[in-house]
Amino acid sequence: MKLGQMFEKYYLDKYYIRYSLREIKKQFGDTPLVGVEIGTRDGSNARLFCKHLNIKCLYLVDPYDAYCDVGSVKSFHNSFLHAKKVLSSYSNKVRFIKRLSEDAVELIPNNLDFVYIDGNHSYDFVKKDIELYYPKLNANGIIGGHDFNCPDVAHAVIEYAVANDLNIERSFCLPRIDWVFKSGVKPNEDRAI
Ligand SMILES: C[S@@+](CC[C@H](N)C(=O)[O-])C[C@H]1O[C@@H](n2cnc3c(N)ncnc32)[C@H](O)[C@@H]1O
Repeated sequence: MKLGQMFEKYYLDKYYIRYSLREIKKQFGDTPLVGVEIGTRDGSNARLFCKHLNIKCLYLVDPYDAYCDVGSVKSFHNSFLHAKKVLSSYSNKVRFIKRLSEDAVELIPNNLDFVYIDGNHSYDFVKKDIELYYPKLNANGIIGGHDFNCPDVAHAVIEYAVANDLNIERSFCLPRIDWVFKSGVKPNEDRAI
């Protein structure tokens, strides 16, 4: 086995499970789940959702188009092929939606168990993603995302949390950190003292 494969199989799979995934697992255990990942790229994180959660349906929203992110048309097409390959053993559980998140929202049901936001990281897009997808969660659903260390992401997340009286949970695990809101969970005022 090559070093890269060994690293992926024995290290990444076991230890590089993002905070949002851990929180979703804690909240729902082995309950069958319907969720969304906004921004799937090569499917690495989506595969971990499928591997560690009991996924009934995972919507994978990514236009795979060069106009919305850094990369060439060819590199996006290769990412799509790679994602299809790494998710091939879950093909009955995942649904690719090759659209921008704002255009995909009409195809996605309400009462979602979780939403993971990792698409366009600029402020306007993250803000719109939260505004469009948070209302689609069920009563104990979880919304989270990647790269809270990115100032635009943090700006949009903090602003939404403050405006809607929601608690932001986050991990401090580098290299990149996740943020999470649990539907309706308010900040714990005692912790501010
Ligand atoms: C950081 S990558 C996602 C990585 C993936 N979540 C992972 O951790 O394995 C960002 C992806 O978001 C996609 N993207 C950019 N803007 C988007 C938008 N408005 N809606 C949906 N996806 C978007 C890009 O095409 C790119 O593939």
